[in-house]
Amino acid sequence: MGEVDAAFVQAPEHRPKSSVIVAEGIPLIDLSPINYQIEDTIPVSSIQSLIKEIGSACKEWGFFQVINHKVPLAKREKIEEAARKFFALSLEEKLKVRRDAVNVLGYFEAEHTKNVRDWKEIYDFNVLQPTFIPSLVDSDDEQTVWFKWDNRWPHNPPEFKEACQEYAQEVEKLAYKLMELVALSLGLVPNRFRSYFTHNTSNIRLNHYPPCPYPHMALGLGRHKDTGVLTVLAQDEVGGLEVRRKSDGEWIRVKPIFNSFIINVGDMIQVWSNDAYESVEHRVVVNSEKDRFSIPFFLKPALYTDVMPLEELLDDKNPPKYRPVNWGKFRIARMRSNFVKSNVENLQI
Ligand code: SIN
Ligand code: FE2
Repeated sequence: MGEVDAAFVQAPEHRPKSSVIVAEGIPLIDLSPINYQIEDTIPVSSIQSLIKEIGSACKEWGFFQVINHKVPLAKREKIEEAARKFFALSLEEKLKVRRDAVNVLGYFEAEHTKNVRDWKEIYDFNVLQPTFIPSLVDSDDEQTVWFKWDNRWPHNPPEFKEACQEYAQEVEKLAYKLMELVALSLGLVPNRFRSYFTHNTSNIRLNHYPPCPYPHMALGLGRHKDTGVLTVLAQDEVGGLEVRRKSDGEWIRVKPIFNSFIINVGDMIQVWSNDAYESVEHRVVVNSEKDRFSIPFFLKPALYTDVMPLEELLDDKNPPKYRPVNWGKFRIARMRSNFVKSNVENLQI
């Protein structure tokens, strides 16, 4: 066994257990009934049971897996292949597109979650170029660190940028369709969330988890909740994603299913839904033999969006549980690693 690097070592209570629970997985939902031809609204009557399934999955797990989603497999395979080729480049090559303290997009090999280093390397790109709005940040804010989101495209492999952009378009469509279903499941009009994404800050991350010589002590990605709205994750056949089961707090391994996506609720749906749907903790376990690749798409609103519990869902018996949160400020606070300011728990009334 190689020498253990202390930077990667998890506290004993956060290390993976030797016995893995996969028996009762997250719900599997067949999206065959959805129709992308109908642009404006989904004919609700034809998808009643699908809406119910989405609603209970969001409530009980905060996670589900979808099949028959209509994202073309060829586009997924193209970005997966491009990711493999990119991560196979020399470190020197990859560092040419490394993220820095100002521009937070690009390659990064030293990601930390809750102060412990993750056993992985990543590459981030944004789907749009977000419009920066200076009034987002308090004028009395003494920290003068600003962030930029400028995509840095590597020259190698040559098809990398095209593969990323084509995939982004397809998976984004799926995310919006899922948001219509989420809206319907909450009793809202299907396009209730659509306007928040006109100037979205959605991004895609390519993850590479190399084999780890001490997989019982380190994690590919430490426990966390997703801050955004909704995540659409493509994981490969290796597996390693674990979800915290709401009923008993156990870590449940998500079984890879060919050509499926794993969907989870982020913090912003938790706030909009006033806790009807909660953002759930998850993590990634590594192994000593195989490389693992995954590609999450993070659906995120425009920087200027004020997120608050939706009026339609509130009444005397269900008063708002959160103060409004400005997404841009929340995101910037999070990037400064100021977790105190940017945990939804701190917005609770
Ligand atoms: C994530 O939680 O962002 C990625 C999960 C994974 O790699 O499976
Ligand atoms: Fe995540």
